[in-house]
Amino acid sequence: MNVLVVGGGGREHALCWSLAASPLVDTLYCAPGNAGIAQDATCVPIGVADTTGLIAFCKEKKVGFVVVGPDAPIVAGLVDHLEAAGIPAFGPSAKAAVLEGSKAFTKELCARHNIPTAAFVRVRDLDAARKHIAGTRMPIVVKADGLALGKGVRICATREEAETACAEMLAGAFGSAGSEIVLEEFLAGEEASFFALVHGEQVLPFASAQDHKKVGDGDVGPNTGGMGAYSPPPVLTQALEKRVLEEIVRPTARAMVAEGRPYVGALFAGLMIVDGAPKLIEYNARFGDPECQVMLPRLKSDLLTLLMATREGVLHKVDARWRPETALGVVLATKGYPGTYPKGSVIEGLEDAAGVPEVTIFHAGTTREGGVWKANGGRVLNVVALGKDVAEAQGRAYAAVDRIRWPQGFCRRDIGFRAFGRR
Ligand code: AMP
Ligand code: GLY
Repeated sequence: MNVLVVGGGGREHALCWSLAASPLVDTLYCAPGNAGIAQDATCVPIGVADTTGLIAFCKEKKVGFVVVGPDAPIVAGLVDHLEAAGIPAFGPSAKAAVLEGSKAFTKELCARHNIPTAAFVRVRDLDAARKHIAGTRMPIVVKADGLALGKGVRICATREEAETACAEMLAGAFGSAGSEIVLEEFLAGEEASFFALVHGEQVLPFASAQDHKKVGDGDVGPNTGGMGAYSPPPVLTQALEKRVLEEIVRPTARAMVAEGRPYVGALFAGLMIVDGAPKLIEYNARFGDPECQVMLPRLKSDLLTLLMATREGVLHKVDARWRPETALGVVLATKGYPGTYPKGSVIEGLEDAAGVPEVTIFHAGTTREGGVWKANGGRVLNVVALGKDVAEAQGRAYAAVDRIRWPQGFCRRDIGFRAFGRR
């Protein structure tokens, strides 16, 4: 079967790397992909928002299955359009992807179905926001309702800060994503991400991971899309995973069916573990980036079989089997990220780095001209290593990172630190 992956980041490289190994795949395409992905798939220059172009391409190349990676095309309904054109596609409908597309929707759903999450209010004007802030303990979390490239969340220590954040969002700092905002109770605890494959009420637990969202060592500085991750995270014990499944994910899958928005696809629950109990921070309607890059190297089962079973609603016929090792991934980014950064700096030593045992390098944003690798984005590379535990995986990942010569790049040196001392 010919398969198309939509997207061009590190997550899509990991998806392509995994799908390329599937005996069911004839030709693997990626739109638009990147120079690193071109090692595993045939990249085609069609943007993720070009629905007409993607459908025409699938028809021309007889693509039998499409995997949509990023949030924006999912929330915009790409899966609906592909399916309407007769092209089987993995991912939720726009109606179900509202779990990611509207934080207010998800908070209301949690309230209606007793799913544990932070207390919240929705507001549309600054007066209402001020009134709520005046009567609430700090810190408080201010969120734009819609998609804001992971930047629409502000944790505010003081009332002044919270009011400013509300004023900025309501004034359009994130465009229409901020025309409604959610004010949330601050949850203190440790974060983890849990992934499940869902078709209506069928739920197959996939894997879990922990991401490092802050740009600096020790979790300081501004939030990013994710500077590194590891899987599985010791914080999510089997007992806790069971609670996440029974108290959060299954009730959500049932609620979405009951409300006429059956969910089909990968469901990503962002969690906070508060005093030993899981609470939902948010849902994403897709695999995580960089979480996907540390889950797929552990997957022993055939990824395409799992994704097709999800779409077809036969999750009881498949299982997801995992290598027992830990995978840890370090993101290399261009200096300046998550702010502004230049493009085009030369990266050397990638082949050498890939030679470290149990290491795989996924590309998030590179180009290749005349055999020379160049940076083409903020997050540029994911260096992922397997090891018998977090320490061994971390040692291998940084050994590989240290073979990469890229003066304009940087990475965190402490990915995995929360896992130490737990096991
Ligand atoms: P979100 O986009 O909703 O995942 O939020 C981005 C990040 O903000 C999360 O990964 C958390 O680190 C933090 N965050 C969001 N909501 C809360 C909350 N209620 N309490 C504490 N931290 C939060
Ligand atoms: N790593 C978080 C995300 O993919 O949204």
